[in-house]
Amino acid sequence: MEPKYAACVVLAFSLMVIITYYLQPHGVVADATQTASLSLNASQSPAKKIPERMFGLAFEEINHSGAGGLWAELVSNRGFEAGGPNTPSNISPWTIIGNETSILVSTDRSSCFDKNKVALQMEVLCDVDGDNICPTGGVGVYNPGYWGMNIEKGKRYRVAFYVRSLQPIEMSVSFIGSKEQKLATYDIKDDDVAEWKKMEMVLEAYGSDANSRLQLTTSKSSTIWLDQVSALPLDTHNGHGFRQDLFNMLAALKPGFIRFPGGSYVEGGRLMNAFRWRETIGAWEERPGHFNDVWQYWTDDGLGYFEYLQLAEDLGTSPIWVVNIGISRNEQVDNSLLMPFVQDTLDAIEFARGDASSTMGSARAAMGHPEPFDLQYVAAGNQDCWKKNYRGSYMKFYNAIKEAYPDIKIITNCDASAAVLDHPADLYDYHVYTNANSMFSMAHNFDHTSRNGPKAFVSEYAVTGGEAGRGNMLKALAEAGFLIGLERNSDAVEMASSAPLFVNVNDQRFNPDAIVFDSSKVYGTPTYWMQHLFKASNGATLLDSTLQSPSSSLTASAISWTDADSGRSYIRVKVVNFGGNRVNLKLSVEGLDNRSIESAGSTLTTLTSTNVKDENSFKEPKKVSPVINALKNASNKMTFVIPPYSFISIDLLRKSHVIQDAGSNGVYESRVI
Ligand code: AHR
Repeated sequence: MEPKYAACVVLAFSLMVIITYYLQPHGVVADATQTASLSLNASQSPAKKIPERMFGLAFEEINHSGAGGLWAELVSNRGFEAGGPNTPSNISPWTIIGNETSILVSTDRSSCFDKNKVALQMEVLCDVDGDNICPTGGVGVYNPGYWGMNIEKGKRYRVAFYVRSLQPIEMSVSFIGSKEQKLATYDIKDDDVAEWKKMEMVLEAYGSDANSRLQLTTSKSSTIWLDQVSALPLDTHNGHGFRQDLFNMLAALKPGFIRFPGGSYVEGGRLMNAFRWRETIGAWEERPGHFNDVWQYWTDDGLGYFEYLQLAEDLGTSPIWVVNIGISRNEQVDNSLLMPFVQDTLDAIEFARGDASSTMGSARAAMGHPEPFDLQYVAAGNQDCWKKNYRGSYMKFYNAIKEAYPDIKIITNCDASAAVLDHPADLYDYHVYTNANSMFSMAHNFDHTSRNGPKAFVSEYAVTGGEAGRGNMLKALAEAGFLIGLERNSDAVEMASSAPLFVNVNDQRFNPDAIVFDSSKVYGTPTYWMQHLFKASNGATLLDSTLQSPSSSLTASAISWTDADSGRSYIRVKVVNFGGNRVNLKLSVEGLDNRSIESAGSTLTTLTSTNVKDENSFKEPKKVSPVINALKNASNKMTFVIPPYSFISIDLLRKSHVIQDAGSNGVYESRVI
């Protein structure tokens, strides 16, 4: 064939592929009804237990998830270190109040903290009287936080900072709203500040504004140094520093585990910028902070190694620590130089688990947690298997950790689903980012993988690309199909989490994400809500089920589970319809007679939307979220109409369990979670 004809054929074929792809299930609802049947065996013999930790969370310091997110610190660049260790340095987002005739602001290296030497110097040129009178309100600096501080009327905030001055100081510490209104203020007079001194105060807000700032001002001619300025709401979760509304979003998922602190964040673009646990523990003022060079922002490391372990404990879940094994995105430490890195990791494990009298355990105890944390999993690196030094590094870490802590489960980056591993591991990490069709079909990915080797930890999965929008129903649906596949293969897959978890709308570095927030608001994307329908699966029993369907767009699974709060037991059937047809699904439950299903208390939960590209937003946070309806006349043989592009969960209440919270007539009302 002549080259020009060959080119035409290739072009025509490519067009066909593209057109076929876009005609796939992407929101076109066909006006047809299909019939399918699902039969399941509720006798639980032989019982297949789904792992207790099956569905959990992957937290990464990405998109300002922690700094400016879950970590409730309101001040951004609190130690003036974000501009680097050399002075003069950029103090952004700090801003000067006043002009060069009234105030000169600079940085020097005079801090009282050895690991973060940069401090702010304010030379106040104006005064209350004389030739150069200060402007009304004074001069100084303000910090806008992370795209505005959320200050709420009646709430209390602990403000702390370090100060030194050549003269007695008279300063005002205030929260100011976006319309210049004062929301809270505290005046300080101190003539004993020749040496660095910590100032600490509680400000109660008498107004609200989600776009406020913290300012420190004076009208007195003086030279003042400031460092480590912090403002934290007093109502963080358990007083542990976690923003309560964001914490609640996580807790509501009843996660089986939490993986931290990343992702690529663990690797760092350069090792010098990677997360180093030791630099993130101890007093907050003494932490140097570091530049997150993968996601391009500074973090003060208020959310450090200790806080991650505390977060896991507060969520009642298992921490999974991803450790850097001497490999960044651009460097690989030679194996002969690795021992200090290995020892550093052993120290970290001792910090988490050691007795309060051990060297590192005592450092944890000094931070207020004498009891060990329940660290049982360590993941060695992130997406590093393909790198030349990975196996050598991995083995050094593996051998040293296993020798000291034989019970710790070690997770390799190398994929054991396709080939037998050439090194020992308790689990293998598996990441998947792909389009919706391929994610849905990956429900079968683990159908035939080995049941003998280590199980998979699917620690990052997400539908990505334009079709996923900023996290729409299509994305959630395809992922639900994938999770159904994981659930059915939970003898080969131990754990799974979507990624990324959080995004601060003001700095989206990775799209889409599961939970969206700004300084004051939060909502879950459909992916977040989809995961609610899997939380009952942790520790549940997988039931044998057979689906007969004319279309491959349908997938289903069934479990038997008990609600720990009410003690009630259910059969839960989950069905994903990833196609544009309605489906009449005939459900039959064997091994259970009709009398053993309680109609009142049985429910049908539906996650769908009129348009599969629909998303949630701050305006409509629950536009796409599960809707629960009572199932009237529930029995072991029922027919359901499954809407196009929908995810449904049928919960059949098993008899002999008291209904505690149904309405007075014993029937559930239709309600939204
Ligand atoms: O989840 C976002 C990023 O995607 C993670 O940091 C990385 O592991 C993956 O490539």
